[in-house]
Amino acid sequence: MTVSSQSQRQTQLAIMRRFAAYIRDGGSDLADAPMVNDVSVYTDPARHAAERQKLFRETPLVAALSSEIAPGAFRTFDATGVPVVVARDGGGAIRAFLNICPHRGARLVRQEEGRANRFTCWFHGWTYGADGRLIAAPEADRFCGGMAGRDHLVALPCEERHGLVFVIATPGLAMDLDAHLGSFAAVLGAMGLDSAERVKSGELPVAANWKYALDTYGEGYHFAALHKQTLAPYFRNDITIYDRFDRCHRVSWAQKDWDSWASKPESKWPVRAEPAGVHYLYPNTILFCGSVSPGKSYLTVFRHFPGEEVGSTVTHKAIYAFGGVKSPEHRAEVEAAFDATAHVVMSEDYVTAAEGWKNMCALPPGSTVVYGRQEMALQNVHRALADGCGMALPGPAGVREAAR
Ligand code: FES
Repeated sequence: MTVSSQSQRQTQLAIMRRFAAYIRDGGSDLADAPMVNDVSVYTDPARHAAERQKLFRETPLVAALSSEIAPGAFRTFDATGVPVVVARDGGGAIRAFLNICPHRGARLVRQEEGRANRFTCWFHGWTYGADGRLIAAPEADRFCGGMAGRDHLVALPCEERHGLVFVIATPGLAMDLDAHLGSFAAVLGAMGLDSAERVKSGELPVAANWKYALDTYGEGYHFAALHKQTLAPYFRNDITIYDRFDRCHRVSWAQKDWDSWASKPESKWPVRAEPAGVHYLYPNTILFCGSVSPGKSYLTVFRHFPGEEVGSTVTHKAIYAFGGVKSPEHRAEVEAAFDATAHVVMSEDYVTAAEGWKNMCALPPGSTVVYGRQEMALQNVHRALADGCGMALPGPAGVREAAR
């Protein structure tokens, strides 16, 4: 057993002890108080524009998993509205560039992903290496010096950490991943993301503000009502385990069949070596580790990106096999897990999100929403996002409303 899987087992055991106590004695992790937030946070075009700039253009975002870009491979990343190409050279160094040809702005790399150690623009044929340097340009002598300053692609801040590739979609900004990840870095480091092999990916669109979509990943309170047929048969919505790590968090909910081991000695518990639970990586990424199938665990990554309109979002979803795909049967099983989750998200969560966001737009100015004590993950998300945009923080119910 590796050090990483040993520490992951210890983490899982510690979480299971907390679940077992709540299952035996009742109770759940809860916030100190409910929190209210202005509806305008979800509907205001100015707030939306500020978030797109501060959170999606000036903040490190997960552009890919490290395992998705092998030496000599590349992957494009357009979801922020800025065209980006991330390339790993033959020596393993990873870099990101604007995917914009310095000659006259053509899209340089037009494939979503692939293998290449050089990129040739399809407009006039200028060719750049994976290190961003201009290698060749047809008839360069006839430019008579006009190519000066265009001999390199525009570099973007790009760094890898714990199996994730982070990019900032604005040239020249400093990348400080220690500050960005805070205490969540240790959680990511123990997750074994380096070993995850992508099996299937897709995009899930929703006509709602991106934060309304994100909210649906942070609380189990809705399982019994919204997911009556899909998640409620497996998960309890009354026992939550929640841990905050600065602007990030990990949250999970008890499964209904856990009564079977919670009152037994720990030596009989089904402790797993894979991480479990919903992990929120500020500002827009959810790493869900687990499955509704007993004994199975996959990594599903949801990255939420706002569109130009306040009420438009695309969730980039991909599922990975920890430790790689073992067999064709294993691949089919992971693909089926992707399809099952996508069906729940699109037919239940995102239908509700689209209706709910449309309703928010019909509310009078000054209206609020409330996040309950058991929705503490949402409280953390909205505090962190407001802080990241330099906006007023949401506050405790009652206190905030009395101040109006
Ligand atoms: Fe790319 Fe001309 S725009 S070579």
